[in-house]
Amino acid sequence: MLDKARRDHSSVSNIHFIQSTFEDLFSHFPSQYNQVDVIYSNAALQWTSGANHALLLPRYIKELLKPDGTFAMQIPDTKDQPSHKAMRVAAQVLGLVELDSVRQARSELTSTCYRRLLRAHCSSLNMWNTIYCHELMDSDGGKEENPVANFFAGSGLGAYLEALADDVQKKETYTREYRRLVAEAYPKEAEDNATLLFMKRFFLVATK
Ligand SMILES: C[S@@+](CC[C@H](N)C(=O)[O-])C[C@H]1O[C@@H](n2cnc3c(N)ncnc32)[C@H](O)[C@@H]1O
Repeated sequence: MLDKARRDHSSVSNIHFIQSTFEDLFSHFPSQYNQVDVIYSNAALQWTSGANHALLLPRYIKELLKPDGTFAMQIPDTKDQPSHKAMRVAAQVLGLVELDSVRQARSELTSTCYRRLLRAHCSSLNMWNTIYCHELMDSDGGKEENPVANFFAGSGLGAYLEALADDVQKKETYTREYRRLVAEAYPKEAEDNATLLFMKRFFLVATK
């Protein structure tokens, strides 16, 4: 991603690319920028816990933003979504206790929590949820296609499969059960075989 950004924006002179975790951003922040106008994060901060949001977000605003600067983020809010419930249910059905502690990458704090954390540091704070409807089509129109399970195979499901480490048998059994539950939760539209995936996202825009 950084390589592509470097290539695409090579003509811009005052641009710096840094690679950092959210947690280490303070020490990697380019020294020539004391503070910045905008901090923007799309679909990434869900990978760190709500406890870390409570530590980091007030500091981003206080320490890294100019007066009047804006912090904006979007994160998935999927805890009540059938696709994500199925990850937990499949583990329970199969008695895979090693999956009990897997953290789903998603919004953990409520809007009320964010308000309590941030309001003292902001002149304005806007938060909202949007539910997107993704219309997923089977790649080959076959009855066995499971586009919702495919959609999360490379993201949400990854943490569960990683926790099963090298146990190929368990991974296969777990994946099969997950796909079965998801297919049940997301029936296809009779007319055109489309599968509708409703995806809730949380947005927060805080101006200092
Ligand atoms: C779904 S991608 C979103 C990428 C990009 N923002 C976009 O909108 O296309 C999630 C990104 O979060 C990054 N990520 C995960 N944990 C992180 C952490 N602790 N600190 C910083 N980035 C992290 C991953 O490396 C990945 O690039």
